[in-house]
Order: sequence, then structure tokens, then C-alpha cells
Amino acid sequence: MTLDFLGQHQRTHLCGDLRAADAEKPVILMGWVNRRRDHGDLIFLDLRDRSGITQIVVDKSQSSAALLKAEAARPEFVMAAIGNVRLRGEGLANPNIPTGDIEVIAHELLLLSDAKTPPFSPAEDAIANEELRLQYRYIDLRRPTMQHNFLIRHRVAQAIRNQLSSEGFLEIETPMLTRTTPGGARDYLVPSRVHAGEFYALPQSPQIFKQLLMVGGFDRYFQIARCFRDEDPRADRQPDFTQIDLELTFPQQDEIFGVTERFVKAAFEAAGQPMTIPFPRMTYDEAIRRYGIDKPDMRLPHMADLTGIFTPELRETLRIEPVLPVFGFVIPSVGELSGTARKALLSEIRSYFGDSGLDVLDLARLRTNESFQPLTEAIAAHLNATTVHFNGKNFTTDDLAIVVTPKLGTAPVWNFDRQWIPKRVGGLRLELAKKYADKHGLFLKKGTADDYRFTWVTDFPMYEFNEEKKTWDAAHHPFTSPHEADISSGALYNDKGSVRAQAYDVVLNGMELGSGSIRIHQKEVQAEIFHTLGMSDEELRDRFGFFLEALDYGTPPHGGIALGLDRIVMLLTDSTSLREVIAFPKTAKAVDLMCQAPSPATDTQLRDLHLRTVVRS
Ligand code: AMO
Repeated sequence: MTLDFLGQHQRTHLCGDLRAADAEKPVILMGWVNRRRDHGDLIFLDLRDRSGITQIVVDKSQSSAALLKAEAARPEFVMAAIGNVRLRGEGLANPNIPTGDIEVIAHELLLLSDAKTPPFSPAEDAIANEELRLQYRYIDLRRPTMQHNFLIRHRVAQAIRNQLSSEGFLEIETPMLTRTTPGGARDYLVPSRVHAGEFYALPQSPQIFKQLLMVGGFDRYFQIARCFRDEDPRADRQPDFTQIDLELTFPQQDEIFGVTERFVKAAFEAAGQPMTIPFPRMTYDEAIRRYGIDKPDMRLPHMADLTGIFTPELRETLRIEPVLPVFGFVIPSVGELSGTARKALLSEIRSYFGDSGLDVLDLARLRTNESFQPLTEAIAAHLNATTVHFNGKNFTTDDLAIVVTPKLGTAPVWNFDRQWIPKRVGGLRLELAKKYADKHGLFLKKGTADDYRFTWVTDFPMYEFNEEKKTWDAAHHPFTSPHEADISSGALYNDKGSVRAQAYDVVLNGMELGSGSIRIHQKEVQAEIFHTLGMSDEELRDRFGFFLEALDYGTPPHGGIALGLDRIVMLLTDSTSLREVIAFPKTAKAVDLMCQAPSPATDTQLRDLHLRTVVRS
């Protein structure tokens, strides 16, 4: 019956298509029953598909057979309605949906598929139980919010493909079954059946392959690439995720920035979000000094360095460590705090700092003491500069001012790291912004270019010292080129901590969206970096011999970048987690609740793969 029907009837419209101008047209709609309302002789069915909802009316006086089917219909049944469009009567239009001026009066209904009572209704907007949503993801995906997220995701990916293709980039796929590449995470391994005891690794990124595509003469490559990293998932991290990955030959950093800005602009515009390019730039050192972090949230004023205004005398009186820096910052639009709220805030900040040696000045109290007037005025003037720079307005009593000082006698605690103080103060800045953001609409300026504040962060350090292991780690990845000047000066070999990398990040609203670098194309430099990272000659030959060999066969200078597609779509859809923009995501424990992955292998599978499992608790 159903097959017969589908053989003879073609859907004429989607459920979101019909408007007043379609009145009287004969139509056939198909979709899910969103809601059903029974008014005795009249039954209303809201039929839903990806495009929207149309109200179907079944009138007993016109078709009793259809009415019977309508009576039996339940939410999430899949039905076809054959009928005519008619204008809704005076006062009956529903202004909340685009099809609200019309309804379809059905003379025939067909049940294409019935449905058990679903564990939750896609007609409800907020479903609290995320585990249930993930277990029944196919029902969850029917919700209009989810459908919207994937429409945006599609448009964004399409816009990026078009933009990069128009600039001469070729889309080329690289293998999923490959061998380990050094990245920041553990690999997912796939055992080989044919080669007993050997494993493929799933790629953490296409890094080595895209470089080899440059050696292979493709000039400009891109890929919307799946990547796999065995690390603990977070709101902005999934074990398998997607990068917009690109690489180009003979590039200057500026060229890579330009290409990236243009495709990001195209992507944002495809999602209806206007934006301005080029993005501002700052070096890593500047980011730490002004924001205390390498992914600055530019929606807030930056920190002010107040070190200079704390004279030795003032430091003595206020019991502040000599020489060490003092930073202050402003959180705008918090509103004037009552005495009690101010005290509570100060003690909250003090417990945030714990016994780290940092303290916060009680500015309100200082202001009541005339002898501190020059100091409070100087602080205000400095903080004003950051606020004016931020929103063009002087800061007022509605804005919260915080000044963080190192306590006398605590210098030795953290003296080994000059970035320690700005990083802690920057952390506090973000904590307070979060605390006041929701209450005061700090970040909520919807619909303006101000919502999305991009920046480039450049000149990252080449290495980070691993205090625990007492070894050097690559700050980006080992294929990143140091600055030429740091190679020729010899710093690469004898002052590793000072070496700057030609590495850059693109940051949006405090989130790292993408990372890239100019790559090493000389074999000796590449080998030196691998050695510094603690790799022996043998390990080097074994793991990267093929790559180092390629560098011997005419390697053009090259560089590139990769941006997280999931993260971009998450921000563009205002979602709070990547799970809202990945069709079948994993939980915080890296589990797919719908298909129950991971799962044990059968004995036959294990035998084929030459494996035996030993589960250690
Ligand atoms: P990187 O490791 O910085 O660089 O990754 C680039 C971007 O990928 C996104 N990303 C993730 N998104 C979701 N879940 C994850 N687990 C995850 N990990 C990373 C981020 C990040 O900025 N091959 C280099 C790029 C290059 O040098 O060209 C790379 O992979 O948005």
C-alpha cells in the first residue's frame, strides 16, 4: 500500500514552503506529525519536515476515511497528506510560523510509518537530559534547532570550499589509515590483520601529508579533514573532529593570513554574520603582557601594566614586593557594588589566588584615604586608557576595577617564570568576566560585528620547557620553522628558550580557532629540532625517515594553517558545546551512546588481528 502510494504520488512541496499565494493549489505533503489536536469533527495535524511545519486539517464532513487515519495519528508518525491549500479564516493566522497564513485541507491521508511514543518530543525546544538526546540522536536531530545548526554547518563548509577553490586551492584527500604523527595528543591505533603485531594510526591531522603534497608540486591544497585525537573531550574538544586544513607553496605569512581571513569572512557571511577583515595582530609576548593568555578575549578591555606607578615608598607602605609587576584591569558595566558585595568579591579573589603570593588592592578603601589620592588617580588614568581604547568611553563607577599586587616576600615563589603574574591576573580577568557576563549582558551584543572579535597571535616561542620531565616540547609542532634570525644567530643551538617560531594562531572571542606555521624545508634544521625534542637518530630514521628523505628531493618553502570547523560552527550557532554541531558526537567519556562505541571485539576479530586483550582495572 505504502509503496504503491509512493509509486503513484510525488511530494509537491516541503512543509515550510506554502504561503498565502498558494491558496487553492492541490498539494501533497509528507513529514512527521509534530502535534495533533482533536476538535471532534475537525482534526488538526501539524506536519513537520526539515523546512518547517504546515497545519493539515481533516474535516469529517468532507472525508471520513481521512478522519479515521487522523484520529489514529500520533506524534512522530510519518504521514502523507493530499489536499488543497486554503487561507486560514479571519483571526486564525499564526504569525509565529512562515506558513501561518494557510492550512492544507486534506481529503486523503496516508500513514507511511508509525512510531512508538518517543523518549522525548522533538516538538519541545529544551530537552534537559543530554544522555537521552545522544542515545536517540536521530530523534534529537529532528528538532528545528539541530536542523538549523546543520544547515549552517553545510553553508559554512560550502562557502569555504567555494572561496578556497576560487583562489586556486585543490581539494585533495589524505589517508585515514596512516602512521603516527607527533601531535599534542595520543593516537588512535588500528591493528593490522595482514601484518601481525603492527598498527596503523588514525591521523591527528594531515600535517605530514599536506607538506608532502607541497613537495609533490600541488602549490595550493585544502581539505575539510577528519582528525582523531585520543584526549579527554571537553565542550570544545571531540575525539574525532574536522579541520579546514590548507597549505601553500612559497608563502609569506601575510599571504596565509589573507587567504584565511577571506575564507573565514565567506564562512561567516554564509551564516548571515557580517565581519570585517583584516583581523588585528599581536605577538605572543604582547598577548601575554596585555591579556595574560595566548588566546585573548578581545571583547573585554586588556590589562594595564601599573608597575611604574607603584613607587618604592608606596610598595613599602602597601607591603608590595619591590620590582615585580603590578597589573590592573577593568570589567565594564558590572554596576556599582554595595559594601558587602565588594568585601565578598575581594575575599573571593583572595581565595582564587590562594597562597600564590598575589593579592588584590581594596581600591574603595584607598580612595577614602587622602594620602592615597595620587595613587588612585594614577590607577584610574591608566585603566581609563584601556577602557577608552576598548569602547571609546571613560570608565565609570559602573565598571569594576581590579588591581593585583605581589605580596612582600613572595618573589622567590614564582620568580622562575616572568609570565606567571600576567597569566594569573589574566585568568582572574576571565573568571570575573564569566561571573558578570550573564548578569550584565557583557558579551551579548547580538547581531553586530562586535560579537565576533578576531585576532592573530604571532611569533610563538619555538619550545616550551617541560618542568616535570626537564625536556623541551615543541610549542606548535616539530615541523614549524624558527625565525631565520634565530637560526643564523645560533640561538637555535645554544639558547633554545629564546627561539621564536614562525607560528601563528587565529583566535576568536578567547577561543583558539586555528593554528599554523611556516614550515621547515631544510633537512638539517628539521633534524636539529627533532634532536632537541629528544629523538634519537634511530627513532628519527624509523619514524620520519621517509619525511626527511623527501626534504632531499627539492622541497619548496611552504606553510599553512588549520582551523577547527566544528568550533567555527559552534560559535556561529551560539551553541555551548561541539556536540550541538556534530551529528553523532561522543560524550565527555568518549562514548557514542547511540551505537555504544567503543565495544569489545569478538574472539574471531581478535584472532584475525593477532590480538589478546588484558583488561587492567
Ligand atoms: P592544531 O593541533 O592547533 O594544529 O589544530 C588546529 C585546530 O583544530 C581544532 N582542534 C579541535 N577541534 C575539536 N576537537 C579537538 N579535539 C581539536 N583539536 C584541535 C582547533 C585548532 O585550532 N596540523 C596543525 C595545523 C598546521 O600547522 O597547519 C594542527 O593540527 O580549532
